[in-house]
Amino acid sequence: MPDRSDQLEILAQGEIDIEGRMPWSSNATFLVNLVLPDGPAADGPPAQGIYKPLRGERPLWDFEPGLHRRELAAYQLSEALGLDLVPPTVIRDGPLGEGSVQWFVDADHQQHYFTIHESRPDLHDALRRFAVFDLVANNTDRKSGHVLIDHDDHLWGIDHGLCFASEFKLRTVVWEFAGEPIDDDLLAAVARVAESVPLSVAALLADDEVAAVQERARWIVEHPVLPADHTGRRYPWPLV
Ligand SMILES: Nc1ncnc2c1ncn2[C@@H]1O[C@H](COP(=O)(O)OP(=O)(O)O)[C@@H](O)[C@H]1O
Ligand SMILES: [Mg+2]
Repeated sequence: MPDRSDQLEILAQGEIDIEGRMPWSSNATFLVNLVLPDGPAADGPPAQGIYKPLRGERPLWDFEPGLHRRELAAYQLSEALGLDLVPPTVIRDGPLGEGSVQWFVDADHQQHYFTIHESRPDLHDALRRFAVFDLVANNTDRKSGHVLIDHDDHLWGIDHGLCFASEFKLRTVVWEFAGEPIDDDLLAAVARVAESVPLSVAALLADDEVAAVQERARWIVEHPVLPADHTGRRYPWPLV
């Protein structure tokens, strides 16, 4: 895999060639090949991305159009928290207009949150980081299948179009770690967001949404444990 800055260059500058529409996707979500003729990895297999054009979005009652901006905001938040949880993502023009393009993770698609939680206790710390990330991002759609594992056992979170609402409405399958303490390094990173939301994230959201990111981060600093679902209803549908 190319290094991070090469990935971002390929995503931002590569020529986009649509390979196909992703099965099961609720919006128009495309697998694309990215070719940068003289760029990094020009002689390797083409890099691939997940392209979500604004134009392909199904209208929603609870989110304004422009979910691709939330995909980028999620990547920027993951970077700001030092998590490396969201694959590199950019916003750019493409064959169907402006959209997000995210690095396509070569994942083991037999695995997802539930199977990883069950069979890989060694990865539980990485799963705990998802719980914190989703709480800060106010993710309303952390399905089991939105946790991917690659061939180096790195876990990646995908599909963050439904994050960052100003109203708190977390929906996730990650509840196994409720009440456990949050690791100090991550807590320090959350405290920095509580202090001030990075511009890389804030620039993509409405003012009340930025204020809500800061509120949630402050809440975590004051209650530094992994979240619990006292309502029993904070699950996405379908679960996988
Ligand atoms: N960055 C990625 N790397 C690998 N596969 C991905 C990535 N993003 C999405 N996918 C695959 O595409 C499917 C649909 O993408 P998703 O982001 O869930 O779209 P939608 O918003 O339409 O639900 C996912 O279930 C997953 O299998
Ligand atoms: Mg999805």
